[in-house]
Order: sequence, then C-alpha cells, then structure tokens
Amino acid sequence: MEVSEHRVPRHIAIIMDGNGRWAKQRGEPRLAGHEAGSETVRCVLNYCRDAGVRYLTLYAFSTENWSRPQDEIDGLMALLGTFVKKYGADLVERQVRLRVIGRREDLPAEVRRPLEDVEKETAGFGRQLIIALSYSGRSELVRAMRHIAEEVRAGTLLPEAIDEATISAQLYAPDVPDPDLIIRTSGELRISNFLLWQCAYSEFFVTPVLWPDFREEAFTEALTAYAKRDRRYGGVKSSDGQEAPL
Ligand code: IPE
Ligand code: IPE
Ligand code: MG
Repeated sequence: MEVSEHRVPRHIAIIMDGNGRWAKQRGEPRLAGHEAGSETVRCVLNYCRDAGVRYLTLYAFSTENWSRPQDEIDGLMALLGTFVKKYGADLVERQVRLRVIGRREDLPAEVRRPLEDVEKETAGFGRQLIIALSYSGRSELVRAMRHIAEEVRAGTLLPEAIDEATISAQLYAPDVPDPDLIIRTSGELRISNFLLWQCAYSEFFVTPVLWPDFREEAFTEALTAYAKRDRRYGGVKSSDGQEAPL
C-alpha cells in the first residue's frame, strides 16, 4: 500500500450500504446481496490488518432496519449467526477482538449467544472489529443519558459536573477512539443515525461502489483520500506554520 503509514486512520467506520441494489441489478433476491456483502467483510478485515488500521467499526443493522420485511430480517439474522459461527475461530486466530455495539438485547438468542462467546474469547486482543447491530446513534445517546440521570438521581453526580467526557464514558465502547474516517458505500450522502456523537470530527468518504463490490482498489482510494485531508479541528491549516489552538 502506497499510503504513508502515519496518515493511516487508526479507526475506520463503514456504513455498508448497497447490498439490495447489487442484488437487484442481477435480478436476485435482496438476501443474495447480503450474502455477497458478508464476503466483503472478510476482505475488508484483511485490508485493515495489512494497512495497520487498529479499529474497524461496521454498521451491519440499524434500529430502523427492524422495519424491513420480516423475511429479510430473518435472512439477515441467519446470515449473521452463520458468519459468526464460521469466522469466530478466524478472529481468535488473527487475534482480533470482536465487540458488539447496539441494542444486543433485541437480537435473537441464537445470534446473540455465539457473538457473546466470541466476544469473551477475544476480549484480550488489541486490534478490534466492532459490529453495530440494532444500533443507532440516537438510541446510544438515550441510553447514555439514562445512565447519567440515574447517577444524578442517586446523588453521585452533580449536573454541573457533566461534561463531554461524562457522556463519552456512557457510550457502548467508551475506550474506542472516535472514527478518523467514515466510509459509506453506494453513494448515499447521509449518516443514517450512525455514531452521531463520535463522528464530530471524522473525515467522510462516500464511494458509488456497492458494498458487495467494495474491494482493495476502493479501499485504497478511501485511504489515499484520507491521507490528503487537512484535519484542522476548527483550528488553522497546519501548513500555515502556526500552532492549531486546542
Ligand atoms: C445494507 O444494504 C445492508 C443493511 C442495511 C442491512 P441495503 O440492504 O441497505 O441495500 P440497499 O441500500 O437497499 O441497496
Ligand atoms: C444504513 O443503511 C444502515 C446500515 C448500513 C446497517 P440503510 O440502507 O438502512 O440506510 P438508509 O435507509 O439508506 O438511510
Ligand atoms: Mg441501504
């Protein structure tokens, strides 16, 4: 990979979109697109390892996706269960920590159980694959606010002591750094309720490539674009030779 190492994002988050359109183009059922998309997940894990990306978050199922037709939901859940059973051992072997963020209590037990088994088995590893399941940024924030309100009610937290760190600490994966780069496939220019708190200063990369077709060339294009970005965080251009204020 020609991208210089210090410009590689530490955390990439991906809105894996376009499975349905991919299937439609082929005259196949939507589930065929989801199946093809699960193969892309395996490939992207390899690209991230090779590029030195430490955290990869994948948006696999949103809280809003429960409104899809029941047969698509069932198919997606079955696919997820199969994927975890099939590749859980791979994650252990590659020393990748699996984490689930989202309303895991919504997931069927036959999906949740194997996921949690792999989470436990891989808990000690440093590189991380974070899967957002029955996830939405707003529901994550509601959950965080409830936890904070409980602390206030219990008298262990003063309202005036609440700051950004208080809220960050109540997110699903508080120790994971915010995503440096958010990629969305299939061309839609929206966030669709993904990582609303964490994306404050993320760089965005949208590609027209559909998720099942997202391979090394498209991944490298995203990394190359990221490496050229000037992340100013509200300060001044680093090339202006001035210190960016904190
Ligand atoms: C993304 O692909 C996968 C999920 C949201 C589960 P879509 O199923 O949204 O595919 P399109 O957007 O209909 O093409
Ligand atoms: C976002 O894709 C959710 C996931 C990729 C899991 P959607 O296809 O559900 O989002 P919209 O409907 O285009 O906003
Ligand atoms: Mg979609």
